Amino acid sequence: MWQKMQKGLPVQTRNQALGLLYEFQHAAATPLHVLRQIAEHMTIEMTAGLMTEGKSNLLMLPTFVENLPDGSEEGLFYALDLGGTNFRVLRCLLGGLEGRVLKQEYEEVPIPKSLMLGTSEELFDFIAKRLVDFVNREGEEYRAKNRRQQTVREIGLTFSFPVKQTSVKSGILIQWSKGFKIADGVGADVVALLQSAINRQHGPKIEVAVLVNDTVGTLAGGRYWNDDVMVGMILGTGTNACYVERDLPSHAPSRTGEMVINMEWGGFWSSHLPRTYADEQLDNESVNPGQAGYEKMIGGMYLGEIVRRVLLRMAREAALFGDQGVPSKMTVPFSLVTPEMSKMHADESGDLRVVAKILRDVFGIQKTELPSRRIVHDVCDIVTMRSARLAAAGIVGILKKIGGDSWDTSGQSGQLKTINRNSRVATSTKLATGRIVVAMDGGLYEHYTQYRIYMQAAVNELLSEATAKRLVIQLSKDGSGIGATILAACHSNYRY
Ligand code: GLC
Repeated sequence: MWQKMQKGLPVQTRNQALGLLYEFQHAAATPLHVLRQIAEHMTIEMTAGLMTEGKSNLLMLPTFVENLPDGSEEGLFYALDLGGTNFRVLRCLLGGLEGRVLKQEYEEVPIPKSLMLGTSEELFDFIAKRLVDFVNREGEEYRAKNRRQQTVREIGLTFSFPVKQTSVKSGILIQWSKGFKIADGVGADVVALLQSAINRQHGPKIEVAVLVNDTVGTLAGGRYWNDDVMVGMILGTGTNACYVERDLPSHAPSRTGEMVINMEWGGFWSSHLPRTYADEQLDNESVNPGQAGYEKMIGGMYLGEIVRRVLLRMAREAALFGDQGVPSKMTVPFSLVTPEMSKMHADESGDLRVVAKILRDVFGIQKTELPSRRIVHDVCDIVTMRSARLAAAGIVGILKKIGGDSWDTSGQSGQLKTINRNSRVATSTKLATGRIVVAMDGGLYEHYTQYRIYMQAAVNELLSEATAKRLVIQLSKDGSGIGATILAACHSNYRY
């Protein structure tokens, strides 16, 4: 990765900047043995979280989703997807096994920053109004083709924050995350909050049929098409995963013997995680210090910000941008967003002109030397690679939890281990010998090619060749919203 420095920066500056770069690279490194330890630790914490009702750093929340879709669902359903920088409303007409998704449309609305820091009533009134407007615009073609002809519109509420579910249709908010700092709402039933806001609109009759995390929506959306989907995962603003658990504790009773567990893996912590000064600063200055440590190293909300902090230090201590000193815009938290950072990272022009342009547009740095731009590019690479590799270690941790010894994690040179026939998991042929599909949603994974490459490479390093072939990571675009409409159908209050 280290490219030869060229003329342009004074030698002393260049050496100082490189020194800081090497130091950061070293602190953020994710060699294979560290990834193995992280995967191992993830598996252990999953069991601990399940056994202690979340009194570990993984909440391991029971979702009460015991039945996943099989394609036979029918009718007109809505979803409301809240939890990142945007919120979405969706309408979906399901046609059963022959038709599947007959028709769908959605609308996406950015959430004003003020609402992320206001009160829950303001936030829910805003989204309820958009939902009601959207339902009011339902076209005749949806009504005509809807075989169920119900008058009530049922929605799946995808609410992507940690929620302690009390049933499949209700749940108490544990805490806000991803930059939402709302004065109230914690401890309240989010379905009741939304339902009251909907009622205040005096519009059409709308009821919440199911409350799901975005990971659960993604899993359901993936399972609708593919029986091998066992894990739902988000790599977007935040990050999280859920999976189908068969070894359930007593506080997660299930008639089918299975339940989806929302891990809330953003809260995972391990002393093996390669934490740097930039992570510490970011955490200290965040709205939730000491929490969501894994998410703050992986999530799209944070990657650009980590890069900004590293560059700021280089500008301060090594005059990375020469005479211009420290660009004032570079001192503004979150001024470098991850999509801009990924464009710099993807710059393949010999003179890194995209990097130059973004440094100019975002930080107001008028002129940069090529060696400085190379350093900026390398910082983006280190931060992205670390995120992707840590996420890969998390996936392997889940595989070990659900697939036990059948998932050989001894690396590409290892052999497929013998399956312990007595273990509960080994009785499932699908898990022991078949494929496991991870349904993935989120902008970080979807839009960042290099990210996907790094993640797959790390998975391949961690698993033996035979087991790596059994793992498929599949983009399930907008799966969280569509999955919620399908789950609303599975949990409908109205049988026609
Ligand atoms: C945060 C939320 C979690 C969600 C994830 C991805 O980690 O706590 O519920 O699934 O972001 O959106």
